Amino acid sequence: MDSRDSEPLLQGFTIGTETPEMDAHIIGMTDRAFGPGRYVKTAERLREGAVPYRDMSFVAQKNGRLAGSVRLWPIVVKTDETSETIAFLGPIVVEPEFRSLGLGKQLIRRALEAAARSGLRAVALVGDATYFGELGFARADLTLPGPVDPRRVLIHYFEDGVSLSGEITRAG
Ligand SMILES: CC(C)(COP(=O)(O)OP(=O)(O)OC[C@H]1O[C@@H](n2cnc3c(N)ncnc32)[C@H](O)[C@@H]1OP(=O)(O)O)[C@@H](O)C(=O)NCCC(=O)NCCS
Repeated sequence: MDSRDSEPLLQGFTIGTETPEMDAHIIGMTDRAFGPGRYVKTAERLREGAVPYRDMSFVAQKNGRLAGSVRLWPIVVKTDETSETIAFLGPIVVEPEFRSLGLGKQLIRRALEAAARSGLRAVALVGDATYFGELGFARADLTLPGPVDPRRVLIHYFEDGVSLSGEITRAG
């Protein structure tokens, strides 16, 4: 598999943006990591039928083999008066044999840099506050299209003074 703009990383890994040809591999790895239960998660309602932001979604590879993936998706934060497109991060997956090397955080940092460059003002996710807190995420005042533990709804802003609240929906 070739990914665009690959660059060397630690111990023979490369990180680059994903391509459509990688979809089946990424989905297979994600299914193995989370099991079939992942499809009933509220976060999945934001992804079903959607296409990830390819230029903000990254894969790590070792010797041409997929080692990890992080995907960003277009979502809309809506209030009564406003509507803003941002990105939703997930799933983040690293193959078990490559965990604890820092790959997960490297992938997320690359995705955040790309999202900031693209002009989006924020990236939201549902995840562990300890892990993502180290990457600049904090509790968000956002609702999702289904039940979710509010302590796991997190957001990362790229500009000081920005604060988004409201309902997250799938874009489009
Ligand atoms: C979460 C995951 C992507 C981390 O990938 P990674 O490359 O090992 O991450 P890093 O090397 O950057 O960081 C590792 C640290 O993350 C923390 N961590 C890992 N999984 C975590 C989790 N589910 N919750 C909280 N912290 C976690 C641990 O502190 C770990 O440190 P350790 O190596 O000393 O145990 C990987 O464990 C994975 O694919 N898990 C299965 C899928 C998953 O749970 N995704 C996250 C959903 S929120």
